[in-house]
Amino acid sequence: MSAEFIPLAKPNIQEQDINLVAEVLKSGMLVQGKYVNELENSFINFTKTKYASAVSNGTATLHLALIALGVKTGDEVIVPAFSYMATANVVELVGAKPIFVDIDISTFNIDVTKIESVITSKTKAIIPVHEFGLACDIDSIIAIAKKHNLFVIEDAACALGALYKGKHVGSFGNFGSFSLHPRKAISCGEGGVLITNEETLDSEIKLLRNHGTEITNGKMDFTRFGFNYRMTDFQAALVFSQLPRLNETINYKQNLAEVYFSELKTTKIKLPFVPNYTKHTWQTFHVLVNENINRDELIIKLRDKNIGANYGAQCMPYMKSFKNKYNLNSEELFPNALLAYKQGLALPLYELLNTEQIKYISNTLNQLIS
Ligand SMILES: Cc1ncc(COP(=O)(O)O)c(C=O)c1O
Repeated sequence: MSAEFIPLAKPNIQEQDINLVAEVLKSGMLVQGKYVNELENSFINFTKTKYASAVSNGTATLHLALIALGVKTGDEVIVPAFSYMATANVVELVGAKPIFVDIDISTFNIDVTKIESVITSKTKAIIPVHEFGLACDIDSIIAIAKKHNLFVIEDAACALGALYKGKHVGSFGNFGSFSLHPRKAISCGEGGVLITNEETLDSEIKLLRNHGTEITNGKMDFTRFGFNYRMTDFQAALVFSQLPRLNETINYKQNLAEVYFSELKTTKIKLPFVPNYTKHTWQTFHVLVNENINRDELIIKLRDKNIGANYGAQCMPYMKSFKNKYNLNSEELFPNALLAYKQGLALPLYELLNTEQIKYISNTLNQLIS
C-alpha cells in the first residue's frame, strides 16, 4: 500500500516559477502585460507558428476561434463524440450545431473514415481533438477540410509538445488551441493559448479577448462585441517559467509510460496504442478495461489503495445536455465513444511520480483484475 494518496494529476511548480510569479505580484502590474507577451512569443517559438494569443482558459480559446471564423447560428461543426465537454459546448454557445463523429477505439481520436459522410452544405468547420496528448490523423483531416472548404480548429488542449510527423500539433489547422489547466504538463491554474499562422485571425482574437478594444493614434475605441477573456500577467509568468522544461518533462513521462507498458500484465485491460507518426505527450495514460469488469467499482477499489484513477473523457452526445437537445442514440451511432466513456480508465502519470509508484499502481491493478 502506498503511504500517501497518489492523485491523478499534480503540477510540478518549482521555486524559480514561484519567484517569477512573486516578481509580477510585487510589480503591481497584474493584468495582461509583459509576461502575456513573453508567453505568446515562447509559444510561437515552441510550436513554430507565426502568432499566439494567451487567454483565460482552453474553452475560451475554442470559443474565440469559432467566433473569429464567423461560425454562427445555422452552421454545423464536426467534433469527435469522445472528448471533454468543452469541445462541443463552444459550438452550441455560438448557436451552431455539433455534429458528432465516432472515434477510433485504438487511439481514442476521431475516426477520419467517418467524417465525409456527415458533411452537408451547412458544415463550416471541424474541431479534431488530439485526445490525451496523442496526435490525431491531422493530415487526413486537413485534406478533407480542403476538399470541402472547411475550417479546422485543432483542439490540442492536452497536447502541448505533441508532434505529428515531426511538426507540432495545432500548427496544421486555422487555429490550434491549448489548455493550461492543472491536469496538463504545464499549468497556471486556468489558462489557454491559441496559435495560428494567419495574421487577420490573430488580430481578431486579440480584439475579441479584450472587449474589441482598438487604439489608433492614442485614441481608444471599441470595434467588436468582445469578451474579457484576458490572462493575468502572474499566470502568464507561471507558465512562461515552466515552458523551457516541457520537453524534458515529456521525455520523463515517456519513461514512466514504458514502466506501465512493461508492468501492466493483466490481460483484462487494453494498453494505449501509439501510431508511429506521432510523439505522445502522455497527458493521460488511458487504458480500456474489459467490458465484464465494472470500471466505476474499479476506480473506488483503486482509491481504497491510495490511487487516484478516474474515467478519461465523456461520450458527449450521451451527456444530459446534448441528450436532452438532440436525443441521439449513442449505442448505435457512437459505440466506440460510449465504450471509451464507460470502460476507459485514466491512470496517474506526471513528473512528480517515480518508477516505484508506477510499479505499485500497475501491480495493484494486476491484482484487482487478474
Ligand atoms: C479536449 C479538451 N478541450 C478543451 C478543454 C478545455 O480546457 P480548459 O479546462 O482550459 O477550459 C479540455 C480540458 O481539459 C480538454 O481536455
